[in-house]
Amino acid sequence: MSSPKIYGLLGWPVSHSRSPAMQTAAFKALNINAEYRLFAINPDDLDNFLKEILQKNISGLNITVPHKEKVLEFVKFDEKNLFLKEIKAVNTISYRDGSFYAYNTDIEGFSKSLKENFDPLGKSVAVLGAGGAAKAVAFALAQDKANQIVIWARDKNKSQGIVGIVKKFFPTTDIFCVDKINDLNIENKDLLVNTTSVGMKETDDLLIDSSKLSSQTFVFDLIYNPVETKLLQVAAKIGCKTSNGLMMLLYQGEAAFEIWTGQSAPHEVMKNALLEAMKK
Ligand code: ATR
Repeated sequence: MSSPKIYGLLGWPVSHSRSPAMQTAAFKALNINAEYRLFAINPDDLDNFLKEILQKNISGLNITVPHKEKVLEFVKFDEKNLFLKEIKAVNTISYRDGSFYAYNTDIEGFSKSLKENFDPLGKSVAVLGAGGAAKAVAFALAQDKANQIVIWARDKNKSQGIVGIVKKFFPTTDIFCVDKINDLNIENKDLLVNTTSVGMKETDDLLIDSSKLSSQTFVFDLIYNPVETKLLQVAAKIGCKTSNGLMMLLYQGEAAFEIWTGQSAPHEVMKNALLEAMKK
């Protein structure tokens, strides 16, 4: 038998990841001779890792924090994905014809998982945070024709950067950022999305003033561990419909699988493997 194709997750740290369970189950279900490894690479060692990547026999990688920007220097872009170079948001790479090509499966992951419960078409949205995930969220919302997107982040340069780049690709989208979180006016938004890491720790305080939250607002928190952040708990108590980031994780993984293998992702298999891995 030929040696297995190697896929994996490149980040620092990566030990918490549920991607190995999901991808391994999919390879097995479709009888694909491949394995999914964790590449925990310290930022100081990333240059060396990437320089040698072509010798490592790796067929594809998911990329996570803090390597999402650096990896841009080492990859090529298909015509239709050239915008990823400008928005500097790559979370998946795939090897083909001597090079790695860049993709962002978070955009599709967020869009699909959101639309399971909420159609952003014509809706007004508040986004918390302006990191890599926020870029994918803002792009997905613009693609899906949200009526208005307002971003708050503690670093205004980052939120302004996202506004500028979304406007460039979606000139008719009404998108802007605010300095103060209260200026998001969450009370009149149809959707609130948390893309920050605030809520991962039990001790984290809420970023928003929850007394302003309306029961009509759909609240989406990208965090999936814990499965219900303080934000989602408070929102549910108010009567809001809510979603965590677990199905986004699933759909971005399915999209990566399809890019790598050229085959349709086995949805139920990957979903069950992910849910099982969440119990551990
Ligand atoms: P990801 O790729 O998951 O988006 P990231 O690029 O590190 O991860 O982005 C995380 C976002 O959460 C950033 O906007 C970050 O703000 P900074 O860029 O200023 O670090 C935001 N964030 C993290 N902790 C935060 C906090 N305590 N308050 C507000 N925003 C926070």
